[in-house]
This record gives sequence, structure tokens and C-alpha cells, in this order.
Amino acid sequence: MKAETALSHRDMEYEEAEREFPAYTGGRPLQRIVYSAGEIGARVEELGEEIAHAYGPDDGVLLVGLLKGSFVFLGDLVRCIRRPIHVDFLVASSYGKGTTSSGEVKLLYDPSTPMRGQHIIVVEDIIDSGTTLNRLMGSLEARDPASLEICALLHKHVAKNLEYEARWIGFDAPNEFLVGYGLDHAEDFRHLPFIASLPT
Ligand code: IMP
Ligand code: MG
Repeated sequence: MKAETALSHRDMEYEEAEREFPAYTGGRPLQRIVYSAGEIGARVEELGEEIAHAYGPDDGVLLVGLLKGSFVFLGDLVRCIRRPIHVDFLVASSYGKGTTSSGEVKLLYDPSTPMRGQHIIVVEDIIDSGTTLNRLMGSLEARDPASLEICALLHKHVAKNLEYEARWIGFDAPNEFLVGYGLDHAEDFRHLPFIASLPT
């Protein structure tokens, strides 16, 4: 195949995702593939390396994944951090009447791991309005960690009142509704190996 007609690795990956997604979604259409599995994997590897080098050899580092959205990202990320770490989870749910969130965040599961003196990294799938993190970070800060950082796979940069900025961001995401790689729409699509947007 001539060089100019050969598909790049990136294009091949997108084509593969386009071919495979109807099996994953049961035929439900997606708008477009936004990040392929390969692109995500390469970026997660970089984040893992950065995190591994951000702390001293004797620092206790605890990654706290916000469930459910971060479960795929967290699973891949921790395997790219070549240094000792501990892992725990936090289950929060925003609740309110109907489709608009009240802005309240309820903790459904709270990590049992002690946080005092530990370097905490909160792992989030996506930062949208920032409400979830604004509410949670204060309660984590109160536990007296040595440091408290956020690692978000995606950041839409639309939040108006972000009280805590993420130290690590995987991708600056388009302001579309994204699914896959842990992100859901009404619990569907979390298992897609890539990230796609939904038709509007
Ligand atoms: P925030 O509190 O508005 O920043 O929203 C954070 C949470 O909302 C994320 O952890 C996701 O669970 C959900 N969310 C926000 N935007 C999206 C999206 O585009 N797709 C899927 N879930 C989203
Ligand atoms: Mg969610």
C-alpha cells in the first residue's frame, strides 16, 4: 500500500470503533467517536507516569475513585502508576427532584482508609458543572490529608464556580454529552472501550 493511501493508526482505530459500536450499543446510534481506545490508553499512560513522579519515595499516595463513572479510568490509571499507592472509592450521588440536580451531593460510600497525612488524588471521570467536586473536596480536606489533588479524565471547561482545579486532566473535552469508558447515559454505554458523543 502506498504511503499516501495508508491509513494512520489513528484512522484505523476510529474505523474499528465505528465498525464495532453497534454490537456494544445494540444498534443505538452514536453521534461520533470522540476519543479512540488507543488515544485514551496513550494519555492514561502519560498521566500515570506524571503522577508517579509527582511524589517523594516515602510519600503515602491514595487514589480515591469517584464511582461509578471513574471505574474504567481508575482501573487503567492505577496500572500505569509505577510506584506504591493505595486505592479506594467514594460513591456520591447528586439528588434532586426531576431532571435538575438540587446541587446537593450525598455520600453513599465513604472510604474506610485513613486520609490524615496521606497524599490524596481524587479520580473523576469528567468535570462538567463542577458541583460534585465543589461539594466533596471540602469534606475530604477536613480529614487533614498531606495534600489533595484531582485527576480528571475529561474536563469540559464550562464550570463557572470551580472551587478546586484539577492538577491532572486527560483531555479538554468538547461540550457534548459523552459516553463510554465509564461514562453513562441512564446507565447505558459505560462499557464502550472508546468515548463517543450522543446524537442531540
Ligand atoms: P458535575 O458535578 O456537573 O461536574 O458533573 C460531574 C458528573 O456528572 C460526572 O462525574 C458524570 O457522572 C456526570 N457527567 C457530566 N457530564 C457528563 C457527560 O458528558 N456524559 C456522562 N456523564 C456526565
Ligand atoms: Mg454519572
